Amino acid sequence: MRKSLYRHTAAWVLGGTAIALAGCAALPGGTADERWADYKNWTKITEGKVQTGDPTGFIGNVHKGPNGYRDVYVNDIGAAMLASEGPYNFPAGTVVVKEQYDNQAAWESGEGAGVTVSLKMTASDDLSKDNWIWAESYTSTAGESAFCSGCHSIAAKTDYVFTNGAFLAAH
Ligand code: HEC
Repeated sequence: MRKSLYRHTAAWVLGGTAIALAGCAALPGGTADERWADYKNWTKITEGKVQTGDPTGFIGNVHKGPNGYRDVYVNDIGAAMLASEGPYNFPAGTVVVKEQYDNQAAWESGEGAGVTVSLKMTASDDLSKDNWIWAESYTSTAGESAFCSGCHSIAAKTDYVFTNGAFLAAH
């Protein structure tokens, strides 16, 4: 956090061009969907937490596996719900971004993150995978994914999101 604050401050001092350059340096390369392009400026729900290992027992080899290091960001629409103790049912427009790094050194450097994205498209009293779409990288197109929703169905009771306030209180 200290690092990214420094980056932003430096960019502001240097002016508009520098803001764009600093943004590019901190984010994965390429052009992203505008619904998550700016995710580094969102609420980082894992701030101050070291997320590694396999706390749920379901990570498998996805998200860089149990040796990876991870951070989770949420946009303003979903921030209060994600940070709460539940019960969870996210508002339509919620976007959750997960960064995954190969190892601790990569995580500390903040460079080279893989990015996966969950988007809640439809509000509903019934929790359903059909309310969500998924993107497998920063520059991917979001859409339905049996691969993503299949495993995230393990978290169906918390609206398909594992990393919420209750989870972080326990881990
Ligand atoms: C094999 C199971 C599995 C698959 C497949 C999977 N995930 Fe996950 N995902 C997890 C687990 C487990 C967590 C949270 C716990 C952790 O980090 O250990 C997680 C966390 C996330 C998060 C952070 C919010 C949350 O739900 O905790 C996002 C965003 C995410 N996954 C997106 C995706 C996308 C997009 C795909 C498809 C490209 C995908 N996942 C495929 C298991 C999976």
